[in-house]
Order: sequence, then C-alpha cells, then structure tokens
Amino acid sequence: MDLVTQHLVQPDDLNYHNNLFGGKMLSWIDEGMAMFAMMKIQYTNIVTVSMDNVVFRSPARAGDIIQIYGKIIKTGKSSVTVKTLAITNNPQTGKLGEVIESEISYVCLDERGKPYFHFRNFKIPVK
Ligand SMILES: CC(C)(COP(=O)(O)OP(=O)(O)OC[C@H]1O[C@@H](n2cnc3c(N)ncnc32)[C@H](O)[C@@H]1OP(=O)(O)O)[C@@H](O)C(=O)NCCC(=O)NCCS
Repeated sequence: MDLVTQHLVQPDDLNYHNNLFGGKMLSWIDEGMAMFAMMKIQYTNIVTVSMDNVVFRSPARAGDIIQIYGKIIKTGKSSVTVKTLAITNNPQTGKLGEVIESEISYVCLDERGKPYFHFRNFKIPVK
C-alpha cells in the first residue's frame, strides 16, 4: 500500500476522554483517500458513496502520528474502490497501533451530478 497522508494528533482533535475524535479520523481518511483516488484515476468530480467495515480498533492520543495507507482495489463503470489502513505511530516510543481498516467507494459524476462512466475509456496506469 502507498502512504497517502499523515496527521499529527493535536489537542483540538481529541474528544473529552482525551482520545482522537472518531469523526476527525474519518474525515482525514475520506479526504486523503479521495485525493489519492483523484490522482490515480485522473478525474476530480467524485463523491464518496460508501465506507465499509469501519471499526475503530485502538485509540489514538495527542502526539501520535496517524499514517493513512491505501491502494485501489477495484474499478467499475463509474466507481472506484480503495482499501485503506490507518495506523498510529508514536514517534517517541515507536509504538504502532492499527486504528481503522476500511474499503471506500467513490463515484465519478458528470456535470449534472449523475454517475459518469469514466472507466469506459480510462485504465489506471500500472506502475
Ligand atoms: C453516488 C450517487 C451519485 C450514486 O447514484 P445512484 O443513482 O445510486 O447510481 P447507481 O445506482 O447508477 O450507481 C452508480 C455507481 O455507484 C455504485 N454504488 C452505488 N451504491 C453503492 C454502495 N452503497 N457501495 C458501493 N458502490 C455503490 C454502483 O455500483 C455504480 O458503480 P458502477 O458504475 O461502477 O457500476 C448518489 O448515490 C449520490 O449522489 N450520493 C451522495 C454522494 C455524496 O453526497 N457523498 C458525500 C457524502 S457526505
């Protein structure tokens, strides 16, 4: 998987139990993976249609670095599905923890907001 993006957990990102707020984490994953998909498919008018199997496996705390990894696993006619893994990496202790593993689907839209069959004419270049 490619390293897609990283975030330092700061005090403003915490809930009142001093763990990373889950909604913040989902927003980092969704935004990072959407940009990753846009770059890979060379198309930017996409929307998130689903995030599957979102399970928060361990908490993240202030000072942890959240590293978000991803890869494209499937394309359809208008949709692209990515697999993502978010881990915590504490730079002082080196301790790693898995936070979320999920599959996210994005749909390409046309100018009227309807699904656009981008993958009829586009194949993701192999590295
Ligand atoms: C995404 C959206 C345009 C799909 O519209 P739709 O009428 O359901 O379209 P279709 O049923 O023709 O499906 C279009 C594609 O989406 C895929 N899709 C639809 N629902 C899906 C789901 N729950 N999970 C994964 N893929 C899905 C279909 O498989 C299809 O893929 P393909 O073209 O590669 O075969 C529409 O649901 C939408 O606008 N949703 C809101 C998106 C949004 O606002 N996201 C931000 C949320 S905060």
